[in-house]
Amino acid sequence: MTAVTSLTLTQPDDWHLHIRDGDVLRDVLPHTAKQFARAIIMPNLRPPVTTVALASAYRSRIEAQLQASSISDFTPLMTLYLTDNTPADEVRKARAAGIAGFKLYPAGATTNSDAGVTDLKYCYATLEVMQKEGVPLLMHGEVTHADIDVFDREAVFIDTILEPLRRDFPELKIVFEHITTRQAAHYVRDADTKNKNTLAATITPQHLLLNRNAIFAGGIRPHHYCLPVLKREEHRLALVEAATSGNPRFFLGTDSAPHAKGLKENGCGCAGCYTAFNALGLYAEVFEAANQLHRLEAFASFYGPDFYGMPRNTKTITLHKVPEKVPHELPLAETVVVPLRAGETIAWSLAE
Ligand code: NCD
Ligand code: ZN
Repeated sequence: MTAVTSLTLTQPDDWHLHIRDGDVLRDVLPHTAKQFARAIIMPNLRPPVTTVALASAYRSRIEAQLQASSISDFTPLMTLYLTDNTPADEVRKARAAGIAGFKLYPAGATTNSDAGVTDLKYCYATLEVMQKEGVPLLMHGEVTHADIDVFDREAVFIDTILEPLRRDFPELKIVFEHITTRQAAHYVRDADTKNKNTLAATITPQHLLLNRNAIFAGGIRPHHYCLPVLKREEHRLALVEAATSGNPRFFLGTDSAPHAKGLKENGCGCAGCYTAFNALGLYAEVFEAANQLHRLEAFASFYGPDFYGMPRNTKTITLHKVPEKVPHELPLAETVVVPLRAGETIAWSLAE
């Protein structure tokens, strides 16, 4: 079989992305917009984007930046940050305003999640309306109790939060974001959704490419620290199997999460990998290594919009099997960000 040297795909979307605000937004947005037509924009700003009014203002800032950067073919899909106090009525407003979903951060689970949900029971009236209105719940799927081992937090979340939630809201559309374990991959694969399109998961490039050894290779590697934290090789293999299986419940979400270099290389470093620089090239490596390159397009470009009930993109983009050099650092406001693979290469690059 001759090796594939170029790959033309329907333009993909990124179903989980952090682009922050202000000058950071200015610097990271072009990387995403070069590859993706749309992206689900995470609401964990400081303060968090908890209302339709805040999301509309954030959308306007993104649109202004797109215009300033002469980007005309990218659409931000806005989300709201769910809190213990999100009124049920905000869901109706969100739906009317074209908000793509609500994000559940268990309080304290990750970057800027202090205002997150302390107990889902406070949200039941709001979830009821989400279920009724078909507004998806996007979940950071980890419990946060200090007595639960950090490597077990996702698996415990499935048993103690997700499964009861799905029992109580069988028709609620749920995206289990950035899954990292065999348990999550199998839970999503095997869940009985009564033939309804109610459960899906996104998978990041770093969780498909790296296992937890990457955090400790020869010393502590802060740029490989993200949440949920990388897991053992057996989990990475289960994620690759899920992503490349052609199952429409699994689709692309980079979770690209820029942090200034100094906040990563730090006594208490921030969580997040910056993958937006050439995320699609990273995913192509994964699918190629699994001999499933022909399934990349559906994972990257079809299953996400299908789940969210949005049209698939019509433009195409082309990747070439030409290695792309990843810079050691990229500009990030008045500082720099260290991208995943910094100083190395990615096997696939985007055609200009
Ligand atoms: C994200 C961030 O920096 O906002 N960090 C991360 O490690 N993924 C937050 C998140 O998605 O958990
Ligand atoms: Zn994230």
